[in-house]
Amino acid sequence: MSAPKKLFIKTYGCQMNVYDSERMAEALGEKGYVEAKTADDADMILLNTCHIREKAAEKIYSELGRFKGLKAAKPDLKIGVAGCVAQAEGQEIMRRQPMVDLVVGPQSYHRLPEMETKIRQGEKALDTDFPEEDKFEKLKSRPKAKRGPTAFLTVQEGCDKFCAFCVVPYTRGAEVSRPADRILTEARDLVERGVREITLLGQNVNAYHGAGENGDLTLAQLIWQLDKVDGLERIRFTTSHPNDMMDDLIEAHGTCTKLMPYLHLPVQSGSDKILKRMNRSHTAESYLRVVEKIRAARPDILLSGDFIVGFPEETEADFQATLDLIEEVKYGTAYSFKYSTRPGTPAAERPQVDDAEASERLQRLQALLSRQQREIQESMVGREVGVLLEKPGRLPGQMVGKSDYLHSVHVSDCNREVGDLARVRIMASSTNSLAGELIR
Ligand code: 5AD
Ligand code: SF4
Repeated sequence: MSAPKKLFIKTYGCQMNVYDSERMAEALGEKGYVEAKTADDADMILLNTCHIREKAAEKIYSELGRFKGLKAAKPDLKIGVAGCVAQAEGQEIMRRQPMVDLVVGPQSYHRLPEMETKIRQGEKALDTDFPEEDKFEKLKSRPKAKRGPTAFLTVQEGCDKFCAFCVVPYTRGAEVSRPADRILTEARDLVERGVREITLLGQNVNAYHGAGENGDLTLAQLIWQLDKVDGLERIRFTTSHPNDMMDDLIEAHGTCTKLMPYLHLPVQSGSDKILKRMNRSHTAESYLRVVEKIRAARPDILLSGDFIVGFPEETEADFQATLDLIEEVKYGTAYSFKYSTRPGTPAAERPQVDDAEASERLQRLQALLSRQQREIQESMVGREVGVLLEKPGRLPGQMVGKSDYLHSVHVSDCNREVGDLARVRIMASSTNSLAGELIR
């Protein structure tokens, strides 16, 4: 028997790409591929790319350039580009980097095994369609190997919102929800293999409306179905749009004990003028009202957000409105970005804010967000929280896990197993994590 071929996948960007990479590895596993630890060791290299950040395509081209030597030394090495840059650039990738054998968009991963056959015959393979069939259904189910205690599960993909700065509606396509029974089967399978916490993924996860036995299910209804899965201890979901925060989902945050008290709810800006230009279809006020309702249902919920500063035509007063909104909401954690143009999106054509000005705003915004993050972490000291133990820590007897609020917690003298859900008293807060002691 010949040695198994080795696959190296480099994943960029969001959690959805992490999930997709796992599934691609499984699909190619059927064709005899095992994981390579480094690119040098691989028979096939796949870059699973992200198009959200600035100059994403250029960075991929230069990364590909670095593989030239590898390919010269090993002519059988196959190189592929997957993900959102593959979708956006398509054929252009092979034109600019002729050594690329395969280009596959995020909706076509189930076609990878056939594409692999084609490239092994020395042909090129390109697929950036948006096919009708469910790519996850066609991808073989996950193998029965044991897994760590946390897993992602994609329930919804794509987006119909068309925010003026964002490439997702173009690269991931229209909003599609997976049927509930497939999600439940996958969830049960994950639990059998040791998973205790599932994070439901979707670019617009709370717009979920997948088919159920008696018509479409909302995300809250799906969560209640998952709540019944024995052995599953924690449910999370990300990323949500403020306009799709329906009452049943807000209510579930108060009543479903497996649903964790953490919500990523991007607002992007606190200025109504900018929100309108961003095509966000909500106002600062309507966002604050949603936050108020969520906090009424679950007072201790930890909120997280995304912010863009320096969006075209943002004035100092608009930026101040964002700072005011942050002061009002108080975020436990947040992601913030300087606006950068994405060719093909509506905002790309508009007058840009001076770069130095935008950088200076980003610094002020991040200083405020860091202060809030620190204050909320410090407010955890003395409290009892649940911690799902994920791995041993660096110190003897220590274990590391995530609290209900998604804080990293180092637990000392912890004679427990990976995958246990421990009750922990928080004793101290440092820059990016908490320290605690086992209660039971
Ligand atoms: N410029 C800056 N930030 C962006 N994001 C999306 N597109 C852009 C862009 N063109 C940010 C948004 C989004 C997060 C995933 O990335 O805040 O919520
Ligand atoms: Fe992009 Fe999110 Fe807006 Fe959709 S809702 S266009 S994914 S920022």
